[in-house]
Amino acid sequence: MKIKIAPSILSADFSNLSAQLKKVENAGADLIHVDVMDGHFVPNITIGPVVVKYMRKVTRLPLDVHLMIENPAKYVDAFVKAGSDMITVHIEAVSLRELAAIAKKLNSKGIKLGISLNPATPLVKIKKALRLVDFVLVMSVNPGFGGQEFIPKAINKIKQLRAIFKKDISVDGGINNITAKLVKSAGANVLAAGSYIFGAKNTKQAINSLRRGEI
Ligand code: DX5
Ligand code: ZN
Repeated sequence: MKIKIAPSILSADFSNLSAQLKKVENAGADLIHVDVMDGHFVPNITIGPVVVKYMRKVTRLPLDVHLMIENPAKYVDAFVKAGSDMITVHIEAVSLRELAAIAKKLNSKGIKLGISLNPATPLVKIKKALRLVDFVLVMSVNPGFGGQEFIPKAINKIKQLRAIFKKDISVDGGINNITAKLVKSAGANVLAAGSYIFGAKNTKQAINSLRRGEI
């Protein structure tokens, strides 16, 4: 499967978001990972639809919007309107019924739907959701902050998921040149990375190292 790299703008310089987006776009990023946090589902607050709307105007890359919020069903419309290309909701925050309704809505608009699960959530919790989604986002840190250390238990989860799920498997949290290798060989093909990419001196080299295993 094609490896896709999704820089997480949580680690970008928000005073100059447009330039930061251009920088990762020119360095070969495939998607822009947008971390939305509400201070309830996770202990941190970040950005909402208004920022997504302006990001949409300054990058041609698909916006991969990761909703770490309670009651995502209530906010999906606003993120659709803002120009999201992919929307991920957490299994800990939706019922299967709500997910089915979100899937129907996004499908009709050509927007991809992802389901995410926290490190402590077992794979069995998303089993029934798999037929409704286009991809799975496996969290390899407890969501809330960038720059945390990769939780190795994610590897087995990815392997087990890959055995039953043929679409995109994305992994998010603590991804660097070393953990990238581990998650790719476990079966993940989309890598979200914040601090490793935005903290790098050479953005292109950082993205290439995640994609191809070069240092
Ligand atoms: C964590 C966010 C991640 C985060 C990744 O709650 O969902 O997307 O920005 O940051 P790094 O790559 O620094 O762990
Ligand atoms: Zn994320």
